[in-house]
Amino acid sequence: MVIRDIREMQDNAADFRAAGKRIAVVPTMGYLHEGHSALIREAKNRADVVITTVFVNPTQFGPGEDFERYPRDLDHDVRIAKNAGAGIVFAPSTDAMYEPHFSSFVLVEKITSVLEGKSRPGHFRGVATVVAKLFHITQPHVAVFGQKDAQQVIVVRRMIRDLNFAVDLVVVPTVREKDGLALSSRNTYLSPQQRQEAVVLYTALSEAQKSIASGTVSSMELVEEMKGMITLHSSGVIDYVSVADAETLEELTALNGHPEILVSLAVRFGQTRLIDNILIERKESNH
Ligand code: PAJ
Repeated sequence: MVIRDIREMQDNAADFRAAGKRIAVVPTMGYLHEGHSALIREAKNRADVVITTVFVNPTQFGPGEDFERYPRDLDHDVRIAKNAGAGIVFAPSTDAMYEPHFSSFVLVEKITSVLEGKSRPGHFRGVATVVAKLFHITQPHVAVFGQKDAQQVIVVRRMIRDLNFAVDLVVVPTVREKDGLALSSRNTYLSPQQRQEAVVLYTALSEAQKSIASGTVSSMELVEEMKGMITLHSSGVIDYVSVADAETLEELTALNGHPEILVSLAVRFGQTRLIDNILIERKESNH
């Protein structure tokens, strides 16, 4: 079932709750792929009713970003969502989500000033705001997000805690193509040449993981190694390559004392900006 009206969605959610059903929401911007399907399947495992939201959220795009040309295909999305186990696709209009005098935003501070937040000012204000709205509209017990957008998970987790949303956050590992490229709706922008080159992102992340496993503790060494690989093997323009504490997103110089490390990067291929990351657990050895 496709629901476009906000009030209708809210009434349906209230009915599900009154009937004792557990609701899971999977927020998306549509153009669904196997990564989104994995989230929907996980949601289905954890709830009676799965609501997939499809909304290209204008407030999280900066000027000059790809809001207008972001790929859209609702029929395709409904098919994919249904096959993966979603009972409801909620696809509101932009005008209904953002009325003419819309003025209320959710601002998550500190952790939004680095990485994606630094490169895309205002991005997480838009994400936090729309996710809060979608939570109010769909009334979920569980919300499922992808590790692909690592900082987004951290921001949403912070917002849920800070604003006391009664929602459990579930995170699904990044789904990749056979060659390692993380699935993304934006991959459709890539030329065949860029598509081939983009594999280097995952190769670089994997190399960093290996280096850490074999004892490298200097993040500068890791960053240089990754930047070198990306520059050598592709025409990609590096936005950032980061080695940070996975909880605070504090940029690290030495890895010691940090049990979970987020290695993340953003690289531009022509107009297309791709992000990827890998979460690494470190067991410190004392020898
Ligand atoms: P979108 O980019 O459509 O992604 C929707 C969800 O799918 C996010 O939780 C994202 O992390 C997850 N996802 C995307 N590609 C994935 C992959 N290859 N493997 C696993 N999960 C993947 O993220 C957004 O939309 C928006 O910011 C949104 C949260 C909907 C707010 O507008």
